[in-house]
Amino acid sequence: MKQLSNRHILLGVTGGIAAYKSAELIRRLKDHGADVRVVMTAAAMEFITPLTLQALSGNPVHTTLLDPAAEAGMGHIELARWADVILIAPASADFMARLANGRGDDLLTTLCLATPAPIALAPAMNQGMWRDPATQANVNILVERSIHLFGPAAGEQACGDVGPGRMLEAEDLAQRCAELFNSRLLDGVQLTITAGPTREAIDPVRYISNHSSGKMGYALARAAADAGARVTLISGPTNLPCPERVTRIDIVSATEMHEAAMAAMGQCQIFIACAAVADYRPINCAGQKIKKDNDSMQIELVRNPDIVSAVAKHAERPFTIGFAAETQDLLHYARDKLQRKNLDMIVANDVANSSIGFNANDNAVTVLTTKGEQSIAQMGKNQLAAQLIQLIAQQFLSTKQEGL
Ligand code: C5P
Repeated sequence: MKQLSNRHILLGVTGGIAAYKSAELIRRLKDHGADVRVVMTAAAMEFITPLTLQALSGNPVHTTLLDPAAEAGMGHIELARWADVILIAPASADFMARLANGRGDDLLTTLCLATPAPIALAPAMNQGMWRDPATQANVNILVERSIHLFGPAAGEQACGDVGPGRMLEAEDLAQRCAELFNSRLLDGVQLTITAGPTREAIDPVRYISNHSSGKMGYALARAAADAGARVTLISGPTNLPCPERVTRIDIVSATEMHEAAMAAMGQCQIFIACAAVADYRPINCAGQKIKKDNDSMQIELVRNPDIVSAVAKHAERPFTIGFAAETQDLLHYARDKLQRKNLDMIVANDVANSSIGFNANDNAVTVLTTKGEQSIAQMGKNQLAAQLIQLIAQQFLSTKQEGL
């Protein structure tokens, strides 16, 4: 199993002799399935060339903050949102000092300030520099800010000293990166997610559907599995691969999705309705392809079952979360749905904005419960999914405690 498959790892390389190990690190991260982009500081380029790291990562290396050409490609804010994790290896004493001071005077420090993703540092420096009280004070500040520290190891150093300050080996760093994605918040919890569009047949070759790509639902399925949940994904037709450790049930129509959801009742503690279910289906599906004999035609439609409402009404009701994709009056409609569909939580998402709507790689949402609301700013769907699963887990666990 590839522990980092499709994870976006932004590798920051700073100036130190261990920068040569970053080349090996990229290979290990890619072996584990990660998509790697590299940012180098000016000092790092004194030790290893961007060309080497570009060839190994398969992506252009980012080196400067104020470069119009780079900004026209993947700008720094986009890069900060793209990352599922920022790993800085090697992290020099100087870089850690700048990070601890909140500096944004080069591309890498700016990305660290801008990103909503977790940041991990793999320090590498002379043992005296590591032991220096100034470095230790900076390390404490960074750890207090929830920045992860991978290492350093102790041993023989490039300068001939022996002591702490060696960068961890590439495979160890890749393993630790993978562990960042496993929170165990939902260990053993049974969770069902609907995702993607449904297709409502008009005749054997035509159907009514919508633009849902399934990306958000699949990202949630993966984030839930990472949090330890046993995940069943009831999916309409999409082009996406099934995430690792997730059981997928493929359906086509809303009726089939409804049946699969009802079959999950009794064995499901959390239900997330992320699918864009067609509201209506043709009352009859023609047995043969309809011919264009007339200038106009009418298709009579009938309402589809509301799956999430049926789940929320079920005798063995799980903790139920819906989505509200709207093009106007977002929060007003979302609040209405929360109440009308008897949900525990609703995730409101403005699909009129093409950068965060159907098919987009980013999303930005407001999460509403009967007790309050919380906004999550625009970021990649994978990161957003991780944050949503964390929120859902917190609410689910506190509701369970209240029920005890
Ligand atoms: O009513 P509306 O379609 O806007 O509600 C959106 C929410 O309801 C989503 O969570 C969607 O998955 C769910 N839904 C459903 N079955 C339907 C229609 C919507 O589960 N037939």
